[in-house]
Amino acid sequence: MKIIVINGPNLNLLGKREPDVYGAESFDVYFEKLKKEYSKVELSYFQSNIEGELIDKLHEVGFSYDGIILNAAAYTHTSVGIGDAVKAISTPVVEVHISNIHAREEFRHHSFIAANAKGVIFGFGLKGYALAIQSFL
Ligand code: DQA
Repeated sequence: MKIIVINGPNLNLLGKREPDVYGAESFDVYFEKLKKEYSKVELSYFQSNIEGELIDKLHEVGFSYDGIILNAAAYTHTSVGIGDAVKAISTPVVEVHISNIHAREEFRHHSFIAANAKGVIFGFGLKGYALAIQSFL
């Protein structure tokens, strides 16, 4: 079972960025825990602040991996291109958000990804990534 976590812009700053919203743990530390907890899953991780790089990665993995866990961060709410990429590939995508996007500003309520995702998980902090892995098992 090959699953990749793809994180979008500013998520490289997890742990330092708005810890009241996103928590105090860095993604690298959390990802090590995820790999230990799901040692039978072949887990990989990609992060980019660049929209086109996220699209390229979706194309690269989207016909061979078993699952994609995508937190496109702010691009979720703006990127027709990432939405189209999720629609174009055959690997199922679970959309994840650390925060409860529906309890925040109105512009965060819309997702260009959700309509083509297998499911959406939001509001459970970093645990949302573990829940997304479980959804593929
Ligand atoms: C986020 C929510 C987005 O609205 C925001 O732009 C992010 C992170 C989340 O994980 O809660 O950068 O995707």
